[in-house]
Amino acid sequence: MAIKRLGEHLKAFFNEEKKSLLSHYPGLTLHRLQSDIKLHAFLSGVDSEELFDFPYLPHRSNPLTIFFEKLRLGVPLEYITGYAYFYRSLFKVTPDVLIPRSETEILVELAVQEIQKNYRNKECRLVDIGTGSGIIALTLMMEDAAILDVVATDISEKALTLAKENFFNLRYAISAKHKISFQQSDRMQNIDGEFQIILSNPPYIKSRVDKDFVHHQVLSYEPAMALFLDDDVYDLWFEDFFISIHQKLTANGMSLIEGHESHLEGLSEIAKKVGFAKVEIIKDYTHRNRFLRLRK
Ligand SMILES: C[S@@+](CC[C@H](N)C(=O)[O-])C[C@H]1O[C@@H](n2cnc3c(N)ncnc32)[C@H](O)[C@@H]1O
Repeated sequence: MAIKRLGEHLKAFFNEEKKSLLSHYPGLTLHRLQSDIKLHAFLSGVDSEELFDFPYLPHRSNPLTIFFEKLRLGVPLEYITGYAYFYRSLFKVTPDVLIPRSETEILVELAVQEIQKNYRNKECRLVDIGTGSGIIALTLMMEDAAILDVVATDISEKALTLAKENFFNLRYAISAKHKISFQQSDRMQNIDGEFQIILSNPPYIKSRVDKDFVHHQVLSYEPAMALFLDDDVYDLWFEDFFISIHQKLTANGMSLIEGHESHLEGLSEIAKKVGFAKVEIIKDYTHRNRFLRLRK
């Protein structure tokens, strides 16, 4: 068997598997695959400019053979490399947490604007409910717009372990003036005190009516707990959530909640019902309803 260079093998692999790869990874390019392999190699301790000139030996235990096998199966690239970019940083991700989505960067931008406007160089207490890998809480600490006292919560212990690991990995990018604590909790249960900012990207897909519209790769690999709520309890789940947000938000506070384009109108009515005086629906960059901004 003629031994190929990694670059040649990758090109041949991409061309042969293109149809199936694109069904798993819409928009995937050879360039993106090359970047992810470079990242994967770098994070595994192989840092070489000539990576793609090295001979590729496709034996079973070669980490790249495992990489190609996972690609054939359609495992999300972020779970293969173990990392995902969000905002300006690289976060560790595992199948225990949702892969960060670009829409959530808008939630962070909106929160940064609010913090800069009202709390610049002042103290601000903030909670990130359903923190997952910790992207929202940790990015806001890195943005450094105020002196933040952050509580990051999740119902999943494994997610919290990963969020703590990301905090550890990014500790040099986070000023020591900020504080963070991690707490396992169902929404805001047993979370003490009031907050000026309450943020959440909660599970918001209805497990029956929305499921057919979810990409098969998401269904197969991402944690259901991060994505779905039972249709029958959906409104009640959010009503209880909004009641606790209302109780724990300071009088001048603001809450931002990411949600499903088809259900945000309904959720905005629930937010009004529980007593929020100002309820706005904010769209994402594709002009779909994506966030609720709540004020008392
Ligand atoms: C859509 S993911 C968001 C993760 C992360 N914040 C992000 O934006 O990528 C929802 C997160 O909420 C957590 N979660 C699900 N049900 C919860 C509940 N009842 N209380 C708190 N967190 C919950 C999940 O474990 C998951 O980490």
